[in-house]
This record gives sequence, C-alpha cells and structure tokens, in this order.
Amino acid sequence: MLEHDVIIIGGGLAGCRAALEIKKQNSTLDVGLVAKTHPIRSHSVAAQGGIAASLQNVDPEDDWKAHAFDTVKGSDYLADQDAVEYLTKEAPEVIIELEHLGVLFSRLEDGRIAQRAFGGHSHKRTCYAADKTGHAMLHELFNNLRRNRVKIYEEWYVLQLILEENDLPESPLNLGENVIKEAKGVVMFNISDGRLEVVKAKAVMFATGGYGRVFNTTSNDYASTGDGLGMCAAAGLPLEDMEFVQFHPTGLFPVGVLISEAVRGEGAYLRNSDGERFMQRYAPNQMELAPRDITSRAIVLEIRAGRGIHADGSAGGAYVHLDLTHMGKEKIMSRVPFCWEEAYRLVGVDAVYQPMPVRPTAHYCMGGIPVNTDGRVRQNATQLTDGFFAAGECACVSVHGGNRLGSNSLLECVVYGRRVGRAIANYVVDRKMPNVDEQKYLQQAEKRINNLISQEGNLRINSLRQKFQDTMTEHCGVFRTEEVMIEGIAQIQQLKAKYSQIFLDDKDKDWNTELIEALELQNIMMVGEIILTSALQRQESRGAHSREDYPSRDDHNFLQHTLASYGADNIEVNYMPVVITMFEPKERKY
Ligand code: FUM
Repeated sequence: MLEHDVIIIGGGLAGCRAALEIKKQNSTLDVGLVAKTHPIRSHSVAAQGGIAASLQNVDPEDDWKAHAFDTVKGSDYLADQDAVEYLTKEAPEVIIELEHLGVLFSRLEDGRIAQRAFGGHSHKRTCYAADKTGHAMLHELFNNLRRNRVKIYEEWYVLQLILEENDLPESPLNLGENVIKEAKGVVMFNISDGRLEVVKAKAVMFATGGYGRVFNTTSNDYASTGDGLGMCAAAGLPLEDMEFVQFHPTGLFPVGVLISEAVRGEGAYLRNSDGERFMQRYAPNQMELAPRDITSRAIVLEIRAGRGIHADGSAGGAYVHLDLTHMGKEKIMSRVPFCWEEAYRLVGVDAVYQPMPVRPTAHYCMGGIPVNTDGRVRQNATQLTDGFFAAGECACVSVHGGNRLGSNSLLECVVYGRRVGRAIANYVVDRKMPNVDEQKYLQQAEKRINNLISQEGNLRINSLRQKFQDTMTEHCGVFRTEEVMIEGIAQIQQLKAKYSQIFLDDKDKDWNTELIEALELQNIMMVGEIILTSALQRQESRGAHSREDYPSRDDHNFLQHTLASYGADNIEVNYMPVVITMFEPKERKY
C-alpha cells in the first residue's frame, strides 16, 4: 500500500498551489499529487482572461472592499461573505507571490502588472498574461512542485474516496464538532498499465475541477467529468448549490470552446441579426460587461426572439455576433491572440475583419463539495468530516454563490489553494496514519473494473453519454421550468437504467480509454441527476438559476445553500444558512 502524509487529487491550480504551500510550511511532509492527465494538461491551463485582484495598478480607486461587494452582488447575494472577504483581501498578495514564483504577467508601460476590465467588476482589476493566463500560472506552479519534491502520479484515475467511521481520537483542531466520518485515502488505477493501488494518508485533498462534460456544449476539456463530486456523492457526502451552473456567454459556435470575456473587456461588442448592440436593453450601464448570467440570458432571449443569426447572415439563427472589427489588428493580436486563433482555426473566421459566431456554453460549476474557509469538507450543515479537504472548482466555499464573476475562479484556486495547504500542514502535525484494509478496497475495485470490461451489452458509451448530455442541456440549461425539469429527470432515469447495457470493445486494462470513459460516465450521470434535482427544488430565480415559472428572487424562502445527498432511491435535499457579514441583500441592477 502506498502512503503519504498528504494525498492531493487533481493537478490543476488549486491542487498545485496547495501542494506547494504544504511544502513551504513544512518541507519534511511527504506530499503526493495524483492527476488523471499530465498536470500541465489540467483544465486550469485553458483559463484565458485573467485573475482578479485590487492591485490598483490601473485604477487607484479600487480596493478589496469594492472587489468583495462586486463579488457578492454578482453572486446574487448567495456567496458566503466571510469566504469572500478572505478571497478579496488576500488577492493582491497571492498575485505578487505568483510573480515571484515566475509567472509572466502582461505589463503596463511602466513595468507593473497590467489589469483589464471584466464583467461585473466595477474597476479594472483583472491581471492577465494575454489570453493564456491559466497556462502561464499552471506551468510555473508545476515547475515549483518539482523543485519542492512533491511526488507526482500522472495519468492515474482515482476510483474511490476511502471514507470510514472515524477511528482516530478527536482532533484538537476540530473545534469541538462531532466528527464521525474520516477520509483515509483513495483507491486509484494506473491508466497506462492497469495497476490498482490503495494510497493511505493523514489528510486527503480533492482539487478535481468541474463537470462541464455533463452538458452537450461546454468550454471545458474532455477530462472535466465531475469525478471528485461523483466520488463524494457515492461516499454519502452532500453536494452544495449544484443547481448553479455557469453558462459563459461567448462559446464559439458551434464547437462551444471559450472565447474569453477578455475580448469584451478589451472592447468587443455583442450584436444581433439587426446589427444592434442588444445589451443596451438588458444592462444599459455595464453593456457587454454585465455579469455572465445576465449576458447569457440576453443572448438566449435574442435568439428566441428571432434575432439570432444564420451562416448567410440572415435572421433566425442559433447564435449572435461578437464583433472585434473596430478594435484593430494590433490590439487583437497583442491582447487576445489565442481567441483570434481559435476562431480562425476552428470556424475559419478572421476576427480582424469578420465577427465571431457565439452563444452560451456550459463553463463553470458554482456549487460543489461543501467546505469551510479552511477547506475542511462538511458532512452536513453542522458537522465537518475528519482528514478531508477540498479547494478549487470542485469545492463550494462559497465565494461565487449563484453566479461567479469572470477572473474570480483563478483567484479562488490560488487563495484557497494556499489557505487549504496551510490548514493541512497544521492539521497533519499530530495526526497518526489511519488504518486501512487494503485488500478489501483492492478487491472491490478489481471487481468493479472486471464487471465493466466483461459487461455484455449492445450500447456504445458515446451514444449513451451523448443522449445524457443532450438531455441535461435541453432540460437544465440557461432557462428552466418545473415541467421541463421533471421531464428531464424522467429521461435521465431511463438513461441511467441503460448503463448496464453498454459494452467495451477493449478488454485490456492497459491504456483502455474506453474503460476510463465508462467510469467517467458514472460520475457524469450522478452529478447531472443532482444538478437537476437541486434545480427543481429551488423555486426562485437567483444568479445563473433562472426559473421561468418563478422569475423573482425569493430571499424569504431561498436565501440559503442547497445540500443534496445522493441515495440509492432518491436524492435528499436540505438547506444551510448563508453567511452575511458585510452587505445586506439588495436588488441587483447593472
Ligand atoms: O472568459 C474568460 O476568460 C474566462 C474567465 C473565467 O472564467 O474566469
């Protein structure tokens, strides 16, 4: 059995930042990091537009409180304000640390870090590296992990979280809460040679990213299948606020890849089939830089009203235009070269001269594994698990509430990666290595894999996955109603029942990508069902959760977080209070 003081699952920004912090706090700690791809291919590498912090390099009027207010207002007042305070106060410091680690940010003429406008932010506070910010950050963080001797397990797929009744004396850091479940490690599968291993650890951290692949059109990579969320749900832990799915307004049509909000931050316009800058009717002050929930709804309403565009330019089509043509080649190529390249390569549009076709695409998961501000995973509304931490997109701390502002997610990864790394370094000091029955877990995993490989069905994984993703997009998209969601739940129940009919052509265990896809599909299905069920229960409109049958926000009944627990027969939904410390909920206008 493998053993580490700390095992981190996920090689993106949150996982890498946490690993680095643990080593900085105590270089003698033995830290392992598991990634299902090579870490520098984690989805964080695809983050484009930037990372928010009130550095005041461009806008001296900015400060952390303005950043905090924008974040809370953007969240439609569902964010926990204690968590937002940490996020925004610590932001300038983590940016300077990143710079010292070697991250190459774009610069102002005087050499300071450049900052640009982003949706929902009242000041220019988004630091960036052209439109490849995630790439610049992740590569440098990963290099630092190597220097600090973190053990990297690349291309290992984690199958199971080992979560058992607590068999250790109560931790002094447990703040007196009655902990009953304890994370002891994980079971993982080596993708290249089919080896199974149990890893036990004094602390387990999930930084497994999001679930964009639950939907049929997404900006997320193929690996974003909600694995960490699925493993938590399967282990009996609740998931928080899963109904809040962010649809990014400008997915390149028809592929869905991200065209960064930075393009609008640098001055691009959204136009309908009349050539009108239609955002003036939806957010007259912020226009194209309204928050994403509002901008995505505006685009869908324009398309529904027949003002979408067809390939021949006529009205009635399925997309709108993102127009950069007034910005000029020099600005496009220096500030957003990658977005230009995406449109040119993928749909043959030269954005210097032609508008890009765009429509909303599933982008980000505001909800996730419920955690406190030290990243400790909650077992329910009042109790924490022992030995289990999470950060980044898979976690819900909750700094984004009902709708995340662009450039706050990279920030969350580094602020909370660092905070959770520190908390773990303290936590493991007095902790003993847990006891784990290795053989029991190996046998269960072996059986699960062998059953899948030998399953005799007549259905291809791809066709079942595609139907599931189509159902989620049709029944739980930008706009929702009870009727449509109930029908969606019925359809996904039928699709789930067909899982036992899939078959795998490849019967080997080494480099069996079909097997990995079959395992991922289990997580996609579980996460999708939790999203739909949580969305059905929330009978109001708030942030990205937009109910046509309940069009208003209802603070009286729903100013609270959803906690949804997956059971064999049903999903149980409970609620947890929102932390309000600085800003009383108000009507949200832009
Ligand atoms: O549009 C973007 O560049 C995305 C940024 C984000 O999701 O924070």
